[in-house]
Amino acid sequence: MAPAAVALITASSAGLGAATAKILARNGYRVVVNYNSSTEKATALLKELDDLQPATDKDASRFHAIQADVSKQSEIIRLVKESVEKMGQLDLVVSNHGWTRIRNFQNLDDNMEESDWDLCFNFNVKTHLFLFHAARPHLEKSEGSFITTASLAGVTPGGSSMAYSVTKAAQIHLMKTLAKTSGPKIRVNSVSPGLMLTEWGLKFPQSKVDKTIDKSVLKRVATVEDVANQILCLANSSSQTGTNIVVDGGRLLG
Ligand SMILES: NC(=O)c1ccc[n+]([C@@H]2O[C@H](COP(=O)([O-])OP(=O)(O)OC[C@H]3O[C@@H](n4cnc5c(N)ncnc54)[C@H](OP(=O)(O)O)[C@@H]3O)[C@@H](O)[C@H]2O)c1
Ligand SMILES: *[C@@H]1O[C@H](CO)[C@@H](O)[C@H](O)[C@H]1NC(C)=O
Ligand SMILES: *[C@@H]1O[C@H](CO)[C@@H](O)[C@H](O)[C@H]1NC(C)=O
Repeated sequence: MAPAAVALITASSAGLGAATAKILARNGYRVVVNYNSSTEKATALLKELDDLQPATDKDASRFHAIQADVSKQSEIIRLVKESVEKMGQLDLVVSNHGWTRIRNFQNLDDNMEESDWDLCFNFNVKTHLFLFHAARPHLEKSEGSFITTASLAGVTPGGSSMAYSVTKAAQIHLMKTLAKTSGPKIRVNSVSPGLMLTEWGLKFPQSKVDKTIDKSVLKRVATVEDVANQILCLANSSSQTGTNIVVDGGRLLG
């Protein structure tokens, strides 16, 4: 029997990344969890993944955690190298990391800090390109796929800051650019969540959460499980590339 598919998920000791690791583990994937500083959280997640894998293929070596600061290209290259050394192959990369600093979107002066723009461009655009480039030979070999986490803020202007919104839009364009140039072997897609109540989402004031729920057609925010399920669907679909899937409780229409 061929060894189970391997997924590498960046920024996955918490939030959407951790939820994605759990859904992939439940569906038989071997998983590399990446984090920067929360070693304890990453270790606890590996234990949970062990418990979630199908009873037929229980094996603790299916899950592995790698510390790497994905804001640096050298660390990204090491992360991919260590993942392949440890797991032997790479079938799916979920490029899930992102960065923002909350600003008043309606106030241009509040959105003029140059370091915000530089950090957003690095975290939300450049490092996804670097990760794709490092993973490409392995994904070509496995005819695998690359899925990146963008944002509703990249589909329509809004969200935590102008720099975040503009760079998340660029991330979606990067995804389409890579999809166009990497077929037929590699499929490239993205998910664009609306507000999710992760540690990140909980940085917003309750009034902003209430307003988002009120303005959403479904009167709810997106759950990490719903977004992670879309990631699983994209990974499993051999007919999709260059697609951005919005999961937002109907906020875009509201
Ligand atoms: N939450 C929302 O409302 C929302 C909405 C739309 C889109 N998104 C997007 O969804 C993605 C995931 O967000 P989230 O809400 O799940 O975030 P989160 O809850 O803040 O999760 C943070 C995760 O990122 C890891 N991390 C942070 N800096 C890192 C670095 N330099 N290198 C490696 N790992 C790092 C953390 O590990 P350590 O603690 O170990 O550093 C942790 O595992 C992001 O791309 C974000 O832009 C979020
Ligand atoms: C990654 O972790 C190190 C050590 O905890 C910390 O100094 C650094 O600022 C972190 N990087 C980012 C981008 O958060
Ligand atoms: C999707 O899942 C089915 C059932 O597990 C599997 O046979 C198929 O190879 C998967 N397709 C991709 C592209 O991963």
